[in-house]
Formats: sequence, C-alpha cells, structure tokens
Amino acid sequence: MRPLVAGNWKMNGLGADLAELAALKAALSGRPAGCDVLVCPPATLIAKAAGQAGGAFAIGAQDCHPRASGAFTGDISAEMLKDAGASAVIVGHSERRQFHGETDSDVAAKAAAAWRAGLLAIVCIGETSAQRDAGTANHICGSQLDASLPDDAMAGNTAIAYEPVWAIGTGRTPSDGDIAAMHAHIRACLVRRFGEEARGIRILYGGSVKPSNAAQILNLPEVGGALVGGASLKAADFEAIIRGVKVQD
Ligand code: PGA
Repeated sequence: MRPLVAGNWKMNGLGADLAELAALKAALSGRPAGCDVLVCPPATLIAKAAGQAGGAFAIGAQDCHPRASGAFTGDISAEMLKDAGASAVIVGHSERRQFHGETDSDVAAKAAAAWRAGLLAIVCIGETSAQRDAGTANHICGSQLDASLPDDAMAGNTAIAYEPVWAIGTGRTPSDGDIAAMHAHIRACLVRRFGEEARGIRILYGGSVKPSNAAQILNLPEVGGALVGGASLKAADFEAIIRGVKVQD
C-alpha cells in the first residue's frame, strides 16, 4: 500500500499562492516522494493548480454535490471537478458536517458521486472531545464509517480520513496508542463489511499534523497517510511532512 499524503487548503488560497505549488513541484522533482501526494486547493484554483502540477502530484477538491448537474445554484458536481483536473475529493469533512449540517447519508451520496465521476473519495470521520471523554469514540467512528460509505468501497476508489474533531487546527493530537487503536478499529470495521480486500483501503490520520510529528504518526501501524490542513499551505512544511513517509523497498 503506497501511503497518501493529502493537503487540505480549506478556504485559503488566491492565485498568488500557486507559487507554493511551484515550489512543491520543484522539491519533488529533485527528490521523488515515497508516497502519493495530493493537494486540495479551493475549487477556484483547481484548474490552474492541475495545470501547474503537471502530474508531479495530484489535485483534489474539498466537497462535491451528489448530483451530476442541475438547478443547484452555487454547487459543484464531481464531474465538474474531474473536468477541471481533480482526481480526488474530500467528502464529509467535520467542517462540512458542522457548518453545513451534512449527515452521514449526505456524505455517502457524495462518495457515490465521486465514484461515478471517477474520483477517489476521501471520506472523513472523527469524534468530538466530549465523545472521546465519554468513551464512545470507537462507537461514533464505527457508525459514521458505516453510514458514510456506500457499498462497493474499495482501495481504488476510497480512502478514509480519521480526523478527531478536537485535533483539527488545535495543535493537539491523540497519543500514538490512541491513533493506532482507532486505525485498527476502522480497519476491522472495513474488513467486516467489505472483506479482505478492504485491507488495501488507506486510512489517513488528520488533525494537527505538522513537520515535527509527521514521521512518528505516519509510521504507526495502519496509518496509510495523512490529511493535512494548516501545514499544507506552505510548500516547505508540506514537503517536510511528505518526507516523514518511510520509503518502502
Ligand atoms: P489541521 O486540519 O491539519 O489544520 O489540523 C486538518 C483537516 O481539517 O483536514
């Protein structure tokens, strides 16, 4: 399994910030990454970013509408993202769930839309701090996973991002043991539902990943990569995180 390190720019980035992608491209052409690299800029920059990346890394989106087209003012379909040059889309990020009221079934419909358009769906799940303190993190993440994934999830079309809500943008991360335990739980849920082939589905960790903790997190068992927010905005930080992936023989 080749790990995936994905950057989520969120609602950050103007045309001038494409210079960071040029810098990332230059860094990776000098020394290839030991993982798949994806950058998810805001939708306004996808086409330009894809042109600029030129295949040195992939470009993704941060959300999509479940339908392919229609009277949905302001929305963007998975097919449009693909047409603009995206090869992946994040669905069900906790900020979408929190600020746009997205439910697990909305997320499942978006994942199915991503597949329909030929995009990798990065399906996000994660517990709040209250849920962790109450001891229900495994149950919450298991049920989010179950209800946010349509049937037919497989390694080629899906990655899971485990992002504890309380770790996003806070500088706080779970202990190594807690990350490993949750990833093992997610793996068990995937294999129970989809069979042995689900062992190939990458499970990314997200939430305050930065250059100083990336290598340690990325090398934990069942951690198949990272979803990086704030630290993906600067090429130097993002590259340092990418270099945390141990190159496989
Ligand atoms: P962060 O965000 O790395 O800034 O904590 C991660 C995310 O929300 O995907």
